[in-house]
Amino acid sequence: MKWSRKDLLDLESLSVEEITMLLDTARSFREVLDRPIKKVPILRGKTIVNMFFEPSTRTSSSFDMAAKRLMADTVNISPRTSAVTKGETLLDTARNLEAMRIDLVVIRHSSSGAPHFLAKRIKAGVVNAGDGQHAHPTQGLLDIFTMREKRGRIEGLKVLIVGDVTHSRVARSNIHGLKKLGAEVAVCGPSTLIPVGIEELGARVFHKIEEALEWADVVNILRLQLERQKKGLLPTLREYSRMFCVTEERLKAAKPDVTIMHPGPMNRGVEIDPRVADGARSVILDQVTNGVAVRMAALYLLSGGDAPLSEAIRKEA
Ligand code: CP
Repeated sequence: MKWSRKDLLDLESLSVEEITMLLDTARSFREVLDRPIKKVPILRGKTIVNMFFEPSTRTSSSFDMAAKRLMADTVNISPRTSAVTKGETLLDTARNLEAMRIDLVVIRHSSSGAPHFLAKRIKAGVVNAGDGQHAHPTQGLLDIFTMREKRGRIEGLKVLIVGDVTHSRVARSNIHGLKKLGAEVAVCGPSTLIPVGIEELGARVFHKIEEALEWADVVNILRLQLERQKKGLLPTLREYSRMFCVTEERLKAAKPDVTIMHPGPMNRGVEIDPRVADGARSVILDQVTNGVAVRMAALYLLSGGDAPLSEAIRKEA
């Protein structure tokens, strides 16, 4: 099967075969990251623009690193230092960059739908690096990749997502991707932060964290978006933490081999106890490593690369 999409905008619109192709391609690139020389020259001559209109540590640096590992040229546009500050629109910015013959745009934006808007209007491929509350497809993929790596399967795996599900693009991308691949998904959090109708996406809802933890094989803990507290959707942080923080004490109810994940950035002591974050069952930093491989796969396939590619990598290395 050949990758045929120009853009990677969400997981909802991808087929099982496309998600599997991205994950399998990422597995080949993951091996490259453990080599002494972590580069393969398969995107030499391609130019990738990273446009991050919202803060990011993991996603922006791993897209930049992924492009460099594939030996593409990269340009990083920051809203603070770009002509956006002078009133230039997102579309004009992208069209001007396109006039310089770029190949791919990676975009993070606070407005849901901004990557889709650009994708319809420019010829270059567009990768969604997180848009508002809508989607974060490469985070969903790297989470699923890590679950598959650690647990050996996705089908039938019980994945619990804890926290602010309503405002989380990570939760939505996890649910869409995991359900397509046959996982069982559940959510748990304050009722103000669980979207109405989440069951229609195939997610079970738990109201008691202890019952949810007992059920789960994998627990993906969401960042509590502290800005939401101002809107009255949360009690005090202390109250949230008392009810939903994933602690060592609470994990006594969980399966002994439960896998602990967090997409980052973490609020230690709010949604996750530091001892859990740094504990033996945590794979949080593995998620970050895998993020580079997943983004290499996305950039490679969207640039017209063939899958499987292990032969190509062996030849080029
Ligand atoms: N997980 C994630 O998107 O992290 P950043 O905001 O640091 O990119």
